[in-house]
Amino acid sequence: MKEKINQYLAEIEMFTAKSKEELEQFRIKYSGKKGILNDLFADFKNVAAEERREMGVLLNDLKGKMQQKLEALRESFEGEESASAPAQDLTLPVNFRDAGSRHPLMIIRNRMIEIFSRIGFTVAEGPEIEDDWHNFSALNFAPEHPARDMQDTFFIEKDPDIILRTHTSSVQVRVMEKTQPPIRMIFPGRVYRNEAISARAHCFFHQVEGLYVDKNVSFADLRQTMLYFAKEMFSADTRIRLRPSYFPFTEPSAEMDISCNLCGGKGCGFCKYTGWVEILGCGMVNPNVLKNCGIDPEVYSGFAFGMGIERITNLVFNVKDLRMFSENDVRFLQQFESAWQ
Ligand code: PHE
Repeated sequence: MKEKINQYLAEIEMFTAKSKEELEQFRIKYSGKKGILNDLFADFKNVAAEERREMGVLLNDLKGKMQQKLEALRESFEGEESASAPAQDLTLPVNFRDAGSRHPLMIIRNRMIEIFSRIGFTVAEGPEIEDDWHNFSALNFAPEHPARDMQDTFFIEKDPDIILRTHTSSVQVRVMEKTQPPIRMIFPGRVYRNEAISARAHCFFHQVEGLYVDKNVSFADLRQTMLYFAKEMFSADTRIRLRPSYFPFTEPSAEMDISCNLCGGKGCGFCKYTGWVEILGCGMVNPNVLKNCGIDPEVYSGFAFGMGIERITNLVFNVKDLRMFSENDVRFLQQFESAWQ
């Protein structure tokens, strides 16, 4: 009998149940009417008097262990049941939290940074509140240049030296004053102009400026860099055209057009039937600018370019009115992030 009890004890110890049904079978096997415990207690009557004490203890121990096991397993199943029971009404509408979306101008700015970073351009930023030197004088603007006119620039009455920058070319100056070539950087940022607000102009907009200064940088490098950018930004079959222009800080200077990305250059209402749309200004850095910033123009040359992020975004996403970029209407703003990916 002793051996039997020890065997059952071991069995109870080892027992685990995968389901409530298995547990119930275990219960019946041991403490059912015709179960092991009843059998053993029936046998107990026949145990010799001198062994009774020991057997009694053993039997009670077996009964106790079996009940402990039963309870422990029962609890584990109950826990499972309450965990899987629905705590809430799953048919209720979710408490929806809008994740928001990236602003179309920032989507395009990030794309531009990515395109230029692939050919070694890094990013720098400068202040939006500038002084005359960085925004104009160092960039070779003659004192009477019309761009300094009150029409275009936000001055403050107290101090005409302090302005809101009218372009990101000011960051060129700040970088060249501190860094000797080679310099290969782009400067994204917000700029301000005193213009009447319309579908095509705003009192502020965004630019990305680029600057490359090193030994032997030529106009061919400028052209090839711009072609690479246009193809990456728009499509592989995009063509570019450079038209002579004027900027005080570049010489020679050019305006760059791309083949119209809507009609592929055939001519449409968007490109006014010319097949071309203007996207940026560029040129070889004027030697006077290099000199103003402490770089020797006899040793180094460079090119620069600057473009409006709004303009590129309008072209990529076919947005017709740039006021929409600053109206903060989420119905407009939400349309772009998924369209781009
Ligand atoms: N700063 C010029 C503008 O705002 C653009 C430009 C940048 C042109 C660099 C040439 C070189 O219109």
